[in-house]
Amino acid sequence: MAFVAVCASTALKDAGPGVRFMLGELSGFVVRYQGQVRAYRNRCPHQGLELDWQEGHFFDVDGHALICAVHGARYDPAGGRCLGGPCQGASLEALVCEERQGWVVVQELWTCRM
Ligand code: FES
Repeated sequence: MAFVAVCASTALKDAGPGVRFMLGELSGFVVRYQGQVRAYRNRCPHQGLELDWQEGHFFDVDGHALICAVHGARYDPAGGRCLGGPCQGASLEALVCEERQGWVVVQELWTCRM
């Protein structure tokens, strides 16, 4: 499958602001955590809302969890698993991403709707 560049690698600082992107109708974001880039669908599994209260602000104040601004669900930045709040047993939807030649790229998704 093809990959799409969403931002320069230098745009992501560890536990800093993320970058939002669109893949077709899917809203997603990338962040850097413990040196690795991570991409997730920007959709909280609690009620299906976007996580960031201000564009690109996904981390909690300690920089150890991604947090949903609506009801405070907290997620592991390394894998998307719920760490606490109203997201019990749920996870963020991880997207395939990597760094290539100074760019953060995300794998395109192909969906079949009938
Ligand atoms: S919509 Fe995210 S915690 Fe409720």
